[in-house]
Amino acid sequence: MGLCSFPRQTLNLMNMFKNWKSRLTEKRIAWLIRHNTMLGPERIQNLSRLAQRIEDEQIPGDVIECGVYKGGSAAIFARLATHSRLPRTVWLFDSFQGMPPATAADGPEAASWVGNLTSSPGRVMRLLRRTGVDLSRVRIVPGLFQDTFRSVHIPQIALLNIDADWYESVKLCLESFYNAVVPRGFISFDDYGDWPGCRLAVDEFFQNRQLSFPLHRVDHTAHWFQKLG
Ligand SMILES: C[S@@+](CC[C@H](N)C(=O)[O-])C[C@H]1O[C@@H](n2cnc3c(N)ncnc32)[C@H](O)[C@@H]1O
Repeated sequence: MGLCSFPRQTLNLMNMFKNWKSRLTEKRIAWLIRHNTMLGPERIQNLSRLAQRIEDEQIPGDVIECGVYKGGSAAIFARLATHSRLPRTVWLFDSFQGMPPATAADGPEAASWVGNLTSSPGRVMRLLRRTGVDLSRVRIVPGLFQDTFRSVHIPQIALLNIDADWYESVKLCLESFYNAVVPRGFISFDDYGDWPGCRLAVDEFFQNRQLSFPLHRVDHTAHWFQKLG
């Protein structure tokens, strides 16, 4: 063994240990949130990895989730981001009053979901506490996006997770927060495959802003992209 190869081996071992630790945290969080999320395993894994990437790649800014429900995916972000070495805040937006009225763009099935998926900030707080989150770095903002987005100022966003299903909701999330997403920051959509309104809002936004970032597929519905440059 040459002297020069020793540090590389040490580095490899350290990387292996770090990866192993990340996967363990990922599994533990997935287990803790299992009754509090609508996400399947691929989507849980993908969100965990995006949340880990903003730490590993030291991408500055806050983390935002629009569409929290019982707090499952929020807990994934909050667990990692609130222990960040960077000064991050995790913002969680939801009415907690169930799905708001849909429009024609959301398709015929949407009507049966209106009013479903009620939850509460208290329920989310309890889950976050159980997941080991630093609550002093979390802001839950209850209310309709149409009312609450105007009341906050978030200048830098590292990760924006949009899980709000409907055309009007997804469109408003993109219009309100896209500009503040920093270069190398991530934007994910839970419902691109499942709900036609979400897909339309994303496609229109890409077209209007002339964006050509690759949209990565996670499973039949979730997609994400990185704001490159
Ligand atoms: C599918 S759920 C979110 C699921 C959650 N991320 C999870 O881990 O299971 C969608 C949420 O978006 C919220 N939502 C959709 N449009 C909204 C709007 N315009 N204002 C406030 N909340 C909205 C609903 O209240 C609902 O809780």
